[in-house]
Amino acid sequence: APRTFTVVGNWKMNTLKEDIDKLSSILNTATIFPNTEVVVGCPSCYLEYARQQLPPTIGVAAQNCFKEAKGNFSGEISPAMIQDCGCEWVILGHPERRMLFQECDELIGQKVAHAQKAGLKIVACVCETKADRDEGLTQQVLAAQMESLAASISDWSRVVVAFEALWASNTGVLATPAQVQETMAMIREWLRQNVSNDVADSTRLIYAGSVSSGNCEELARLRDVDGFLVGSAALKPDIVNILKALQ
Ligand code: G3H
Repeated sequence: APRTFTVVGNWKMNTLKEDIDKLSSILNTATIFPNTEVVVGCPSCYLEYARQQLPPTIGVAAQNCFKEAKGNFSGEISPAMIQDCGCEWVILGHPERRMLFQECDELIGQKVAHAQKAGLKIVACVCETKADRDEGLTQQVLAAQMESLAASISDWSRVVVAFEALWASNTGVLATPAQVQETMAMIREWLRQNVSNDVADSTRLIYAGSVSSGNCEELARLRDVDGFLVGSAALKPDIVNILKALQ
């Protein structure tokens, strides 16, 4: 079966209720084509609110969760809390969690394992920095991140892998289609060599790094790109064009 085209619009720490109202009314009237899955990444305090505003056809994801079911972990939220708010997705290992909050592969792996066991669907993120690319370390860096994810995943059908080129996220520099295809193919090949042919062929790989209505159509046609993780454009009406990038 062809892989479902998947767009995850990550609101990050940018939306108050009034913003969620505006974005929801845009998304409520957007055309969502068959074989397209749409998810929004919502701040944890608004998960339930966003779930109520958005149509049931659009998924709502938390942007993080902890690796334990409950306990003395002030400031953290559990998979069960996300589900209790009516949501079924979580984004884990986002590059901002890795870089700004020092989340390491080991912790991300533990979070992925726990979230999957709890029944959440997961957008599992990997990334490369400019230094990684300049030093020719892309393959190595991605392999290390994929290894710790793969060790934590038992059901790949409930995981979408997002790759972010950090050097192309809000820097004014865009990755070329050739660079995006080459890197996404590297991740798929890693899955083929280290997990299975079936998982390599069926797992959705989505690209992140300043995806907008200007570049989404060209990127969506790439063989190993199955959709996008969108940041800044997800806060604008632009998002509706990205949802139909493949049409
Ligand atoms: O979660 C989204 C990614 O960090 C990409 O953000 O589209 O603003 O580059 P961006």
